[in-house]
Amino acid sequence: MSKWNESYAKVPELLKSMKDVGGVVSAFNANIDAVKKVHNAEFSSWLQAAGCTDVEGSGESVIAVPADLLRGFLYCFERGIAQEWLVTDETCYRWMEKNVGYDRLQMGGQGGIIGNVMAVCGVERVYVHGASMPKLQTELFVDRPNLLSIDSEGSCVPARTIDRSEDTALVHWILEFDKGDTITVGAKTYTCPKSNRFIATYDPANFRLGLDGQFCSALEREKIDVTLLAGYQMLTQTLATGEKSIDRIRESIAVVESWKVNSPGQTVHFEFASTQDKEVRTELLKEMGSIGDSVGCNEQELIDLMEVTGNQELAEECKKDLSSVPLFKALRKLFDTAGVERIQLHMFGLYVTIQKKEWKISPEATRNGMALAATIAASKAGTGSIEREENLLWAVGKEVGDIPRKELNDLAVYLQSELGADSFAETGIFEGDAFDVIAIPTIIVENPVTLVGMGDTISSISLVGAREL
Ligand code: GLC
Repeated sequence: MSKWNESYAKVPELLKSMKDVGGVVSAFNANIDAVKKVHNAEFSSWLQAAGCTDVEGSGESVIAVPADLLRGFLYCFERGIAQEWLVTDETCYRWMEKNVGYDRLQMGGQGGIIGNVMAVCGVERVYVHGASMPKLQTELFVDRPNLLSIDSEGSCVPARTIDRSEDTALVHWILEFDKGDTITVGAKTYTCPKSNRFIATYDPANFRLGLDGQFCSALEREKIDVTLLAGYQMLTQTLATGEKSIDRIRESIAVVESWKVNSPGQTVHFEFASTQDKEVRTELLKEMGSIGDSVGCNEQELIDLMEVTGNQELAEECKKDLSSVPLFKALRKLFDTAGVERIQLHMFGLYVTIQKKEWKISPEATRNGMALAATIAASKAGTGSIEREENLLWAVGKEVGDIPRKELNDLAVYLQSELGADSFAETGIFEGDAFDVIAIPTIIVENPVTLVGMGDTISSISLVGAREL
């Protein structure tokens, strides 16, 4: 048995040990996801409703008119990639409400999704933040006593029991598409190379990284082991309110600093997410080094970061070849500049973590956390939901895929020639002088029921579930 397979064999036990984690904060963005699977028929009807004939062409990655929605969707569909664009105009949002519709509503936002995942995995106390908490939102929190939030009186209560009827529901559209599907526009047919999703977001509260005062001050009194931060990707350099993104980022950092007074040893993880505004991307990279210990991103987000750190060539190389070797080169560049102890990349088929020698979690524990994450992520893809505890281990015993194995092997060859790494393909661990690299090939689910929230699930479990057994 390969060494990394030993980590997979420990998954049921690793899941049990999530109960040993005391307090996890999941902040700041929870919203409602309106999920819709899009095929040619839906796309054609939107084309008609929007009165468009041609939706190709370049432009900003924002949605101001319905044609932008179609353009963004097609861009992702054709490439099989994931992006999130912000809807900047209320009239356009109303058009979407009327014309797009949805198949189902589910918990959305990294903060909300991670809150649910951590609670179902059994963490003792999970504190989830929401900028807006009407019933439509809070009833999407899992019904568990360990999923907590702060009500308008400042009391810590099960998140699901909160009902701030005066708050506005924040709805995001998750437009999913399937590998092999085709869309026809005029004489041209587009074929989708990989199942993925395009997100169109209209969310004024989270656009400004809305922080709930009661939550922020109540958490100063709680004991926290891990704080998982996300939701910054919706910021723009100058907000519609006139505020500056940098001030919002710094205000949130001050909040986390205040939580650290009572829980100084906590680990702070920042999930990068698809951040369209390049200035905000740059600011985040700079500011997060001061508070974050750990960063998580996917391959697109890593490329986005290369673009703002003067690594355009590497960004292009990764775009052309989304595989483990170019992406690892980018990951290493990011590691050199981000000023954090640990960065994890989750890409198709492989998760790769680089961590400093002095990082508090051993390479073996990290690899265990990643195997637990890969299994639960596959369970989510295969069952459509891990909000029910019995689904968490659905993927236990399923083989890792051939593509993932190849990605690991290719990376092993590169690490051997670059850093002299031995047996990386076998162990998934390279221990260097200044940093360690840990990788694990993942279980691939053909025809996944859902993909949204996958990265959030992977990043949070990899970190919180990392343990030596
Ligand atoms: C972004 C989207 C949100 C979605 C989440 C999944 O935060 O805004 O709607 O649930 O990504 O990762």
